[in-house]
Amino acid sequence: MADEVIYKTDLKQVDWQQMKSTLASDAFNNGRNASQLQKLFENSYAAVIAYVGDRIIGTARALSDGVCNAYIVDVWTLSQYRKQGIASAMMKLLLAKLEGQHVYLFTNDSVEFYQKLGFEVQPTGLGMVVGQWLQNKNLN
Ligand SMILES: CC(C)(COP(=O)(O)OP(=O)(O)OC[C@H]1O[C@@H](n2cnc3c(N)ncnc32)[C@H](O)[C@@H]1OP(=O)(O)O)[C@@H](O)C(=O)NCCC(=O)NCCS
Repeated sequence: MADEVIYKTDLKQVDWQQMKSTLASDAFNNGRNASQLQKLFENSYAAVIAYVGDRIIGTARALSDGVCNAYIVDVWTLSQYRKQGIASAMMKLLLAKLEGQHVYLFTNDSVEFYQKLGFEVQPTGLGMVVGQWLQNKNLN
């Protein structure tokens, strides 16, 4: 029988150290430490964390102004749980909180995954890192 997956949209009792080590072991850590993960999730407009038991096996979160523009980041399913609909379920929970908004995101290689959810490729996005990635003397 497949493991039961629970989706939580609050951030109560999240084990940020576990999230960090699980993301790192699955090559999706992006250099962020546990306290940075806590801060960036807490500062997000909406977030979903998927669990099997106490184990974090998926994340997704949205940045938003709450009115017209949102940006989705950190969509991830632990490798061994992929292709079971988990990221789709997380995305649907996030999108339900973004009604009326234009939702943008960036992906290197998961275009089809997002297209299945209704996203369309839009004209070129532009981006830059201000200074050095994760370095902010006002926060460290
Ligand atoms: C992309 C990712 C989040 C998808 O997670 P998942 O839980 O496996 O996704 P789902 O099971 O909900 O997939 C839904 C559908 O999209 C398809 N799909 C999933 N990942 C895909 C990919 N990378 N490319 C194309 N199709 C993909 C699935 O086959 C499935 O199709 P189906 O409904 O016809 O069966 C997961 O592969 C992942 O964590 N990748 C590494 C992190 C990453 O790249 N995240 C995206 C950052 S923008």
